Amino acid sequence: MADFSKIVLAGRPQGAPTPEHFRLEHGALPQAGEGEVLVRTIWMSLDPYMRGRMDDAKSYADPVPLGGTMEGGGVGEVIASHAPGFAPGDIVVGRTGWASHAALPADEIRKVDPSVAPISTALGVLGMPGHTAWVGLNDIAQAKSGETIVVSAATGAVGSLVGQLAKTKGMRVIGVAGGPDKCAFATDELGFDACLDHRAAPDWKTLSAQIKEAAPKGVDVYFENVGGKTLDAVLPRMNTWGRIAICGMIAWYSGQGVAEAAPLPVAWRTILTRRLRVQGYIIFDHNDRYAPFAQEVAPMVADGRIRYRETVAEGLENAPQAFLDLLKGGNFGKQLVRVGEDPGA
Ligand SMILES: NC(=O)c1ccc[n+]([C@@H]2O[C@H](COP(=O)([O-])OP(=O)(O)OC[C@H]3O[C@@H](n4cnc5c(N)ncnc54)[C@H](OP(=O)(O)O)[C@@H]3O)[C@@H](O)[C@H]2O)c1
Repeated sequence: MADFSKIVLAGRPQGAPTPEHFRLEHGALPQAGEGEVLVRTIWMSLDPYMRGRMDDAKSYADPVPLGGTMEGGGVGEVIASHAPGFAPGDIVVGRTGWASHAALPADEIRKVDPSVAPISTALGVLGMPGHTAWVGLNDIAQAKSGETIVVSAATGAVGSLVGQLAKTKGMRVIGVAGGPDKCAFATDELGFDACLDHRAAPDWKTLSAQIKEAAPKGVDVYFENVGGKTLDAVLPRMNTWGRIAICGMIAWYSGQGVAEAAPLPVAWRTILTRRLRVQGYIIFDHNDRYAPFAQEVAPMVADGRIRYRETVAEGLENAPQAFLDLLKGGNFGKQLVRVGEDPGA
C-alpha cells in the first residue's frame, strides 16, 4: 500500500515563520467517499497566501488549525473514483493540501488537459495565479492600450503574466523585481519595457525617482503585489484617474516593515487628489471569470506567446523550506513542489 504523508502546521509564527512551524507526518491513505475521488498528488503549489493561513486572525478564509494539514492547491492523478465523470488516470486540479494524496469531492476539482500544456501550469500560468493576473488587469484595473502600468513581484507567478498581458494590450510595462537576474528576465524574456530592482534601491525615494524616469508620462495602473517600499515609491507617481488593483502585500505578511510604512494620511491624500480608484480583490470571488481567462490565455501559453518560469522543490518534505524561501523572494517564477511522478514529464 502507498505511503501517505502530509505536512501539518506545528505552531503559529510570531513574525517570520521557520521550519519548526511545520511537521511531516505519515499515516493511512485517505478513503474516497461517495461523490469523491482519491488523488495522488503530482505537483503542489506554494503560494504567498499560505502565510496568512498560519495566523489565527480574522481574514477572508479560516486559519489552518494547529496540527491541521497545510492548505494548498495540487495537480494529481485520480487513483480511485466514486464520482461519475472521473476515472483512474484522469489528471485533476484541486485543493489537495500539502499531502501526498487527498480524497476530494468531484464538484471541487477540475480536469486538466495534458495536451494543452504541461500539467504543472494548472497551478501557475493557467491556474489560480494566472486567473488572478487576468482578472486584476482586466476587471479590477481596467487597463487600456497606451497606458503605463507598474507591476511588482514582476517575475512571479502573477506578476509575470500581468506584464505580458499588458504588453499584448499595447501598454508601457514597468516591472519591479528583486535582483538583476529577475530584472533581466523581465525585459529580455518577458518583453517588459523596463524593470527596476527594488533590492538595489536603498530607500523608496530612490525607487520612486527610477519609476519617474521609466514612466515619463506617469503611472496609470499599479498592479500591487507587495506593499512595502514599492508601494511608497509608486504612489507619488500615479496619474489622475489612475487605478490600483490590490492583489497582495507580501512585504508585510509577516509584519516586517509595517511600522516604517508611509502613514495612511499620505496615501489617503494621494488617492483623493489624484482621484484614484483603489480596489482589493480575492480571486475566489471571480470563479465565473475562469473560463474566459482560460479561453484567452491557454492558446497563448500553448504556442509560446506567453512565457512562464517555474522553480521546483523536490519532495513533499522540502515544501516548508521552499515556502520560507518564497516569502523572501527565493523563487524565480511559479514555486512548485514535485510530490510524485508526472506521467507526462
Ligand atoms: N488577491 C488574490 O486573490 C491573490 C491571488 C494570488 C496571489 N495573490 C498575491 O499576489 C502576490 C504575488 O503572488 P505570486 O503567487 O505571484 O508570488 P510570487 O510573485 O511568485 O512570489 C512572491 C514574490 O514576492 C516578492 N517579495 C517577497 N518579499 C518581498 C518584499 N519584502 N518586497 C517586495 N517583494 C517581495 C519576491 O519577488 P522579488 O524577488 O521580485 O522581490 C517573491 O518572489 C502575493 O502578494 C500574493 O499574496 C493574491
